[in-house]
Amino acid sequence: MENNKQSLILAQARNKKVFSGSRPTGRLHLGNYLGAVKGYLALQDRPDLDCIYSVVDLHGITTPYDSKTYQGQIREVVLDYLGCGLDPQKCHLMIQSQVPEHIELAYLLGTIYPVSRVEQLPTYKEKRAENPDYLNVGLFYYPILMAADILIYKSELVPVGKDQLPHIELTREVARKFNSMFGEVFPEPESYETNGTYVPSLIGSGKMSKSVEGSYINLTDSLEEIKKKLAGAPTDSGKGDKVPEEGGVANLLTLVELFEGKEEKEGLEGKYLGDGIKYSELKENLANAIYKELQPIQEKRKYYEEHLEEVKGILEEGRGYCSIIAKETLREVKRAMGLV
Ligand code: AMP
Ligand code: TRP
Repeated sequence: MENNKQSLILAQARNKKVFSGSRPTGRLHLGNYLGAVKGYLALQDRPDLDCIYSVVDLHGITTPYDSKTYQGQIREVVLDYLGCGLDPQKCHLMIQSQVPEHIELAYLLGTIYPVSRVEQLPTYKEKRAENPDYLNVGLFYYPILMAADILIYKSELVPVGKDQLPHIELTREVARKFNSMFGEVFPEPESYETNGTYVPSLIGSGKMSKSVEGSYINLTDSLEEIKKKLAGAPTDSGKGDKVPEEGGVANLLTLVELFEGKEEKEGLEGKYLGDGIKYSELKENLANAIYKELQPIQEKRKYYEEHLEEVKGILEEGRGYCSIIAKETLREVKRAMGLV
């Protein structure tokens, strides 16, 4: 039995790797779902791939957080993942800090990466601006740890939203540099984007984000909550001689396209240029379409909420599997770097 399990692990481990993760900053929202989790789902179904999906708790502590509720937040994301349909028969689910090799590799990769490049990253600048009183070394290390998350499994595909592309580029650079200094160890991973790679905010500007109040709809929101949140989204008079390309109306139309399809969006654009859009109707239809997609997710999530022992087992499997591969890569890296 043990032997069978071991050979199954090794056979799977030979498949092309996929890695991705989300920070446990709260429950997942539509941006996370459309931009990232839908990609996780598409890739777990491909038999040529071996997918590892993570809750990146070590990234989550680089911005202000509450240590007393943190374990609960981590669990919320795991439940959201399972509710969305991540299937423990098709992928591995893991908590980042449970495989400490990620951190060790991050330190090692940090020694070959220039400080100036990290400082130029838009994501680093953004977070620094959001939390000027919380500028910590961990935040600086954020993209290097992310590169380590990906490279420790020699991952080749990384499903992420558009905001993460600079980090994937950095990961590729790190891999190239490492290989040129110490010999070929890492593949250069590529991003995998869904058609919802950039989900706009409900408040009219920027992306849907947990750190901006009023900007997001959670996967666990009820129909009433969704309606209430959409009601707050800014609109205009409903007609004009040019359909807005940015702002509240443009964002609503993007959400219509993502949940009701391109035709529906084009129909509304026609109305904008003609008799005018009735936003109350648009928002009512959009709320219903969003809820229709979320309802089955919420039902599945409820099953796992009531079967937490099963969830614990799934995470144990993930930790065990990932540890085996991570240890192997780290050994190879240390050998290449002359540390053993
Ligand atoms: P985070 O919550 O920042 O850890 O993000 C987890 C995943 O969701 C990452 O792959 C992000 O790129 C993706 N994501 C977050 N917000 C959005 C958004 N508004 N649109 C598309 N993808 C997003
Ligand atoms: N930085 C990512 C985000 O904010 C989360 C993340 C950490 C990640 N490590 C990763 C995503 C590795 C993909 C692969 O969304």
